[in-house]
Amino acid sequence: MRIKVGVIFGGETVEHEVSIISAIQAMNKIDSEKYEIVPIYITKDREWYTGDMLKDIDVYQDLNLIKKYSENVVLYFKDGCYVLQKKKGMLKKIVKEIDIAFPIVHGTNVEDGVLQGYLQTIGIPLVGPNVYGAVVGQDKAFMKDIWSSRNLPMTKYTWFYDCDYRKNSDKIINEIENLKYPLIVKPARTGSSVGIAVCENQDKLKEAIDDALQYDNKVVVEEVVENLKEVNIAVMGNYENQKVSEIEEVLSANKFLTYTDKYIGGGKGKLKGGFKYSPKTSSKGMASASRKLPADLDSKLREEIENIAIDAFKVLGASGNSRIDFLIDKKTNKVYINEINSIPGSLAFYLWDAKEINFTQVLDDMINIGIKDYKKRISKTHSFETNILKGFAANGGVKGMKGKLK
Ligand SMILES: Nc1ncnc2c1ncn2[C@@H]1O[C@H](COP(=O)(O)OP(=O)(O)O)[C@@H](O)[C@H]1O
Ligand SMILES: [Mg+2]
Repeated sequence: MRIKVGVIFGGETVEHEVSIISAIQAMNKIDSEKYEIVPIYITKDREWYTGDMLKDIDVYQDLNLIKKYSENVVLYFKDGCYVLQKKKGMLKKIVKEIDIAFPIVHGTNVEDGVLQGYLQTIGIPLVGPNVYGAVVGQDKAFMKDIWSSRNLPMTKYTWFYDCDYRKNSDKIINEIENLKYPLIVKPARTGSSVGIAVCENQDKLKEAIDDALQYDNKVVVEEVVENLKEVNIAVMGNYENQKVSEIEEVLSANKFLTYTDKYIGGGKGKLKGGFKYSPKTSSKGMASASRKLPADLDSKLREEIENIAIDAFKVLGASGNSRIDFLIDKKTNKVYINEINSIPGSLAFYLWDAKEINFTQVLDDMINIGIKDYKKRISKTHSFETNILKGFAANGGVKGMKGKLK
């Protein structure tokens, strides 16, 4: 019997389209002898759909087509199984059962723990980080605070909330100006370079903050790394075991990697709906920034990056296959960890490919790690029998408790 893998993608996020591409690339490569693939597409307005047609990129040109020909479903736990049940109609038919959920989602409302929280609430095994790993992997303020507590090398930074900035912007600007210009301003949780700007002086800083606050109520400001070289590495595993991929250098014509660099410039794919896409022919996949793979690094720097990446992955409680991004000052050879992408675009398959681990193997490894995580999770005690409720009733139920709760 094949394991039924529900590949979940889309969602209400600025990276919706990127997620569709990543998921379709993966569905093309999952070993279909071992696994039955069940596509589960979440629209931007949070409706869930399933059906084989969702494996085809062309259907995403027309949402009405999807609404008409695939099934609008809910995923929940019923009679010991995880089922996709028709949402509408007199007979709420079970469309599919699935054994394990495989979120291939990017950005807020999905990759950031929101989807993982739902999956863990119904109890289904899942591939990738659990809710805790996903939350800290999306929030640049959380991830930096955790990494700095472990002394991982990072640029000097600070972060603040919108309400505190509105109350006393001078105080926040003063705090920020303990850092040295040029500074880079980032909304804490967007991704894909959305709302990010470099600023050389206070006027530009204020403008950048106003812009970043349109995307998030939490903003990170950090020092810019000069003579920049950006390298990325993937880490596969969970808190117990990890292995690392090849390291790539990403190249950009701009001062920093933009949304266009990441998804539109550089690659050779066919432009569809604004995104280059060619899962069968492109070794680059969705992440179509120009790259040098393997990156030009001496063995000392390489080892340093591998070790930091593993530490960073572990302390955040990541699981599955994450991409960890670094900034290097080419002049001083100083390495700074920048961010983790806990579910990276194209699942960073090209970084494994360069180490002769093909995409099918990567997906197989990820699913196996998800199964291991699930077994670990259910081996722990999560509830116990208690007589608290009996005591509650004996005291006269709600009425009896009312006095005590005052
Ligand atoms: N401290 C920094 N110094 C120089 N460039 C940076 C710095 N932080 C980010 N960048 C540039 O901005 C890009 C986007 O920032 P990043 O933190 O990776 O956010 P995102 O989650 O949007 O990818 C990076 O790929 C890099 O080019
Ligand atoms: Mg980034």
